[in-house]
Amino acid sequence: MSAKVESLLAQMTLEEKAAQMVQIPYAQTGREASLRWAKMGVGSFLHVWGDEAREVQQAALSSRLGIPVLFGIDAVRGHALNDHATIFPTQLACACSWDREIVKEMGRVTAREVATDGLHWTFSPLLCLSRDPRWGRVNETFGEDQYLTGELASAMIQGYQGDDLSAPESIAACAKHFIAYGEATGARDAYDSSVSYRKVKDTFLPPFQKAVDAGCATFMTAYGSIDGTPLTADGHMLRDILRDEMGFDGFVVTDWSNVTSLVERQHAAKDSQEASLLAAQAGNDMMMNSPEFYDCVIRLVREGKLDEKVLDEAVRHILTVKERMGLFEQPEKMGKPGCIGCEAHQQAALRAARRSVTLLKNEGVLPLKNVKKIAVIGRGGDDIRMQYGDWTYFTHPEPRPRDPVRPYSTIREAMEKLAGEKGAKCVYACGCGPIPCAQDDLDGAVEAARGADAIVLVVGDEISQVGEWKDRADLTLSGKQIELFRRLRALGIPLVTVLQSSKPLVLGPIPEETDALLVAFNGGAHGGQAVAEVLLGEIEPSGRLPISFPRHSGQVPVYYNQLPGWHGGKYCDLPQGPRFAFGEGLGYTEFAYSGLRFDADTLKGSVRVQNTGSRPGLETVQVYFRDCVSSVLTPVKNLIAFQQVELAPGEEKEVQFQLKRSDFSLVNRKEQRIVEPGEFVLMAGHDSRDESLLQVRFWLKED
Ligand code: NOJ
Repeated sequence: MSAKVESLLAQMTLEEKAAQMVQIPYAQTGREASLRWAKMGVGSFLHVWGDEAREVQQAALSSRLGIPVLFGIDAVRGHALNDHATIFPTQLACACSWDREIVKEMGRVTAREVATDGLHWTFSPLLCLSRDPRWGRVNETFGEDQYLTGELASAMIQGYQGDDLSAPESIAACAKHFIAYGEATGARDAYDSSVSYRKVKDTFLPPFQKAVDAGCATFMTAYGSIDGTPLTADGHMLRDILRDEMGFDGFVVTDWSNVTSLVERQHAAKDSQEASLLAAQAGNDMMMNSPEFYDCVIRLVREGKLDEKVLDEAVRHILTVKERMGLFEQPEKMGKPGCIGCEAHQQAALRAARRSVTLLKNEGVLPLKNVKKIAVIGRGGDDIRMQYGDWTYFTHPEPRPRDPVRPYSTIREAMEKLAGEKGAKCVYACGCGPIPCAQDDLDGAVEAARGADAIVLVVGDEISQVGEWKDRADLTLSGKQIELFRRLRALGIPLVTVLQSSKPLVLGPIPEETDALLVAFNGGAHGGQAVAEVLLGEIEPSGRLPISFPRHSGQVPVYYNQLPGWHGGKYCDLPQGPRFAFGEGLGYTEFAYSGLRFDADTLKGSVRVQNTGSRPGLETVQVYFRDCVSSVLTPVKNLIAFQQVELAPGEEKEVQFQLKRSDFSLVNRKEQRIVEPGEFVLMAGHDSRDESLLQVRFWLKED
């Protein structure tokens, strides 16, 4: 407990405490009203920067107690709402790297740029699991797996917060959305997740626990509900579990209008007063865009319906974070003048984009060689908005008709340049995009491709199919994209398909009939460059899928860590299993595994990996386990460790891994996390498919 915080708290009036618990959206509220809030001692603003933020901060500092305001922003893939900032691939694309350092660097660069704009706090990372790809926000996640998500999220938090939150370039992170938001029934955004608390603890909590352990300064409450209880009103989740069991000591902010929606959308409170009471009692410390909370909470305390100690506790959490951030000494973060969008940061975004490209099929056509004419086809191949996807200055908080700001390159531009340097000519034709429009011209695309030595067809989705409120019932590649593929295929020219999308899509005949398939997801400013470099063999593809691809929309969920079922998990009208599995990804070389060992006493393991091809490569060694007999059903396999190893042609290395006993735990019927002694299987190999994994059995004894 800090003397500074306690002394401030002791001086605060009820009104000042209530104001500290409010977060105001500047744009929606307007300048005059925002300045009034600042003078009342409001806790935070979101989505305002530059001179407007400075003016608001000055108003807050000149209020009675002069408590600085905290500025938050959705800098979720770089500081991407600022059109001059560095735009990274989406979280999903970055997750294909399976690389903690790449993700940490992304966090650090983002922090530096956000801090340079005078801001303190990003609403990132997003730790929800994408187990149903129909959900609109899959692009914002690290994929479907709890272990990979937890590892990458804690790396990102370290990047944002650094070793010292008060350092000029460090900003506060926000682990969101607490909890099970991605598991909403039918993948309907902000809907009810019909899961038990046992399931929540078993499957959805672990990444958030890692965020707590990484010192994450803030958490955000999800919009939805768990088994009918809105998260905003769930004191068991926010107090007993998050604070008492998980040990979180930062502050909790609600998501956008969560208090208001308890009344207007979820019908869980009869009026704003009751909603405010529920939200405060449940343990939300700061209310994002529910300004009515201010009057309501003051009235509740005055009428004796709410103990003022609840406010004290919330304000203490908020002030403690402000103190950890050094805001009482230095209210404005400094960053590094001139760093926004600078060359070094663009290079970091390019590194991330390169590592996110994932090769799923290659019938010998890639890398493209001895080609004189390459046809690049598809709207996404030359449309930077589609390459970016969600949460950039074009798209959020609401669509804005901005002009794109360089540097960036689309696939077409990068191919023209790189292929040109190798003496090859590129032609481009749109053909069509994901949403039919008047300019669609399939005939023109076929004509443009005729006579080419190779075709690069870019397919995917676009912004109207991505994000909040935009869940899809049908994941099939939309519009005339499949028809375009068929017509190009009929030309008999080597055909490479590039999927540039926000999520896994159902690709119809493409996986079987294309000669090569690359997944780029949304690669950010340099996504086009990264794809071109892979196509032309300038770099090795090294991405691995962080999420499974279904064969059909009706087949979801197809995540790899399914529970074993008595009748199996299959449909009678589809082959079993996903079209592409978690962990899959090819290189231009091949790897062979041998000699898996595991010692159940020391929990040390090792496996040998050899590069058996003729090009260098980066392999991601994936380690899974199965609990053979358990009191509650446990997944057929679960990722437990991964490590990356660079291998020259012919080179072999032994990769060692050290596990912990708790890695083999489950959450039992009493909601306790325990290890049940007995037989286990450890698996290691290239991806999550049985045929890619070596196995050893071992027994864990009583502790
Ligand atoms: C709503 C989104 O759910 C959340 O992720 C975001 O951080 C806030 N709005 C603020 O924009």
